[in-house]
Amino acid sequence: MIKINRKPVPGYVNFDFDNIKFGQTMADHMFVADYEDGVWKNIRIEPYGPITFNPAMMALHYGQAIFEGMKATKTYDGVPVIFRPEEHAKRFNNSARRMAMPEFPEDLFVEAVKTLVAVDNEWIPKGDDAALYIRPFMIATDEQLGVRTSDKYKMMIICAPAGQYYSKPVKLLAESFYTRAAMGGIGYVKAAGNYAASLLPAIEAKKKGYDQVLWLDAREHKYVQEVGTMNIFFVIDGVVITPSTEEKTILKGITRDSIITILRDKGYQVVERKLSIDEVRQAHKDGTLSEIFGSGTAAVVSLVSDLSYKDEIYHLDGEYKIATLVKKEINMIRQGLKEDKFNWLYPAVIDNDVTV
Ligand SMILES: Cc1ncc(COP(=O)(O)O)c(C=O)c1O
Repeated sequence: MIKINRKPVPGYVNFDFDNIKFGQTMADHMFVADYEDGVWKNIRIEPYGPITFNPAMMALHYGQAIFEGMKATKTYDGVPVIFRPEEHAKRFNNSARRMAMPEFPEDLFVEAVKTLVAVDNEWIPKGDDAALYIRPFMIATDEQLGVRTSDKYKMMIICAPAGQYYSKPVKLLAESFYTRAAMGGIGYVKAAGNYAASLLPAIEAKKKGYDQVLWLDAREHKYVQEVGTMNIFFVIDGVVITPSTEEKTILKGITRDSIITILRDKGYQVVERKLSIDEVRQAHKDGTLSEIFGSGTAAVVSLVSDLSYKDEIYHLDGEYKIATLVKKEINMIRQGLKEDKFNWLYPAVIDNDVTV
């Protein structure tokens, strides 16, 4: 059971929903659970606010820190819904296992997300791709130096309103020096350190005029992996191709899975396989490369206008028929305007409301 301690005066009343700066204002409440003596305890929702920690807290030193990112929206008739929370729960535990952290019960994860969103449902902004961004995370909280797994952890969920996402097509730089993930590493999980390691290459790519890095494999710098916080799709000769996740070097995006499911359902040929940057270059030369797009919770779909590799730039300015179609489809499902035939929406309602 989740104990709920509500904030006496909610903050959404004074929040300017027409000028949302993503990630700067948090919703009123947060979910917190503590792991001690092998069990999750003190399961609660309380007013959002600072937490105290000891400078020797292990997450700060040895990086046992994982997170998730998902969204809640309101359907056209006002029902708060969360997009595929069970999949995020599973991925959270996948990350936990790889980082030698305790798993968080998946039904409790979903219950926590749905209760928190129900409590803070007034924070869900309205509009086509506006949403409440939900950030579950877990950190090691033992207070001791020395490299080992922590015995204590904190699992928390915070939420932040995200406004309309006016995404202009992005320019990608295929990175031929830095790498993001090698086989046997942690590239397939949402470990905080993955993002820290991507910052310097991203800064350097920005200086060269690119929005984000397209990662290539660590061994040969030959095969395409993913982009910043997105998976990547290519349409070549009408076939939709996305790098396979078999080698465990790519985060298995939930939007990626949704796109594959929708497109296959509509009769498109979608292939998950190794794709070399040379094949992309050749397809661009032959005129068979019609679309490149990224997929992720943040923008759903981001069109790619330019891809640079070594000294070449592959420019695309087609219709982006497939990218536009899937983005619209996902947004319509989230707004309840299209049948949710894959059961992706999870209504945010409170089952056990204990106000203390
Ligand atoms: C590295 C990385 N790849 C891909 C994605 C896209 O995943 P999803 O569609 O689940 O948001 C994300 C975002 O979570 C990410 O951080």
